[in-house]
Amino acid sequence: MPDILPAEIETYTDHHTTEPAAIFNELAGETREKMAMYIMQVGKVEGAFLKLLTQITHAKRVFEIGTFTGYSALCFAEGLPADGKVITCDIDPEATEIAQRYWAKSQHGGKIELRVGPALETISTLDTTFDLVFIDADKQNYINYWEAVMPKLTTGGLIIVDNVLWSGRVVNPQDELDHAVHQFNEHAINDTRVESVMLTVRDGITLARKK
Ligand SMILES: C[S@@+](CC[C@H](N)C(=O)[O-])C[C@H]1O[C@@H](n2cnc3c(N)ncnc32)[C@H](O)[C@@H]1O
Repeated sequence: MPDILPAEIETYTDHHTTEPAAIFNELAGETREKMAMYIMQVGKVEGAFLKLLTQITHAKRVFEIGTFTGYSALCFAEGLPADGKVITCDIDPEATEIAQRYWAKSQHGGKIELRVGPALETISTLDTTFDLVFIDADKQNYINYWEAVMPKLTTGGLIIVDNVLWSGRVVNPQDELDHAVHQFNEHAINDTRVESVMLTVRDGITLARKK
């Protein structure tokens, strides 16, 4: 998944972003080594952004769709207060085994609860509300995820959606996935329950605040 911005701009933004704790670089290294789709990990700049959003919104409960090897979940956990909680879900036991090993090494790992299984099933079992939701899984289900989490989001809560620019392909959608992401973007911008902004960070991030 190529970035939207030229490589030298990505490198520049990377250099001007606070270094994460050492454990993040270890996790990124093992992910690159073992997972063919290592590029799916949010990485340093987006990870720092997610942590900062968690802090400045004073979120206490975060729900994440798409754990992978656990990088973004640990960013949220770092941004949460001691009594905060991240519930994160994924269908891939190999990726989440790596995630759990790294969370166990972090002082913030205890804030993370993993649910393995299809996200829509997991959402239907959630009996709490969330201040912040991160959607970062299969693109065909983005609209379903958006609709399923909206009732569980607090008023003033934030939905963060990743890969909304889909390497720029949304501008002229060709294949099924391009269309799925574009259709999601149309769905989100026409949803009067939220105020939203689309950012050109990495592969595109939409932030939507529930009114
Ligand atoms: C882009 S990756 C998530 C990256 C992660 N947020 C990070 O920063 O490392 C997408 C993940 O969504 C998961 N996924 C795909 N379909 C899913 C589904 N139906 N329910 C839950 N997770 C799913 C994949 O297994 C994959 O690990």
